[in-house]
Amino acid sequence: MIIAIDGPAAAGKGTLARRLAEKFDYAYLDTGALYRAVGLSLLNAGKSPTDEAAAIAASCDLDPSLFSDPALRAEATGSAASQIASIPAVRSNLLKYQVNFSNSPPENKAGAVLDGRDIGTVVCPNADRKLFITASAEERARRRTAEIEARGDAANFAAILTDVKARDARDMNRKDSPLKPAEDALLLDTTILDIDAVFLRAVEFVKAAMP
Ligand code: C5P
Repeated sequence: MIIAIDGPAAAGKGTLARRLAEKFDYAYLDTGALYRAVGLSLLNAGKSPTDEAAAIAASCDLDPSLFSDPALRAEATGSAASQIASIPAVRSNLLKYQVNFSNSPPENKAGAVLDGRDIGTVVCPNADRKLFITASAEERARRRTAEIEARGDAANFAAILTDVKARDARDMNRKDSPLKPAEDALLLDTTILDIDAVFLRAVEFVKAAMP
């Protein structure tokens, strides 16, 4: 069973993906973390996210310690990730790992849940179930602001909203694997549905695909 979950930043897809993986005991892959790791390795090396050669080199040889680095979740890392994500060679290097994960989930799990931007369209076009999770840009910026403030840091809603919109535009308008719902994806809008309601609908949707 392969479950593909796509959507823009901060729509709630990560929370949903983790909960589904736990419920069904499937393996979970946060594919955004792969792009973030490439972005972070450039930032750590003092390189620009527009440096294509450096991004391609980093995507061939990802340092596993980056995945547990708290800086992986920083806004600047997300922004760098969305810039390197438009480089086709970076995408194709990261694609192999994702396809392999979905076809052979670790620990022999009976299924895999992957979340990202192009899972239902490019990484797993034959996924058993596809979901597209969205929310308004304002709602997503509000959530990011609350998250940052909950960590005790200062957050500027207007700047975060500008960043959310810039990231959406980059993710939706890039030539290679743009963010868009697969034709057979179930669309859920978390502006109006809370995460428990989304989870219940997703569980029913997945169960209906089980033999
Ligand atoms: O989901 P997250 O915010 O961690 O993703 C960071 C960036 O990585 C996204 O803005 C997007 O540009 C890129 N990404 C992608 N394809 C994926 C997952 C993430 O292009 N499957």
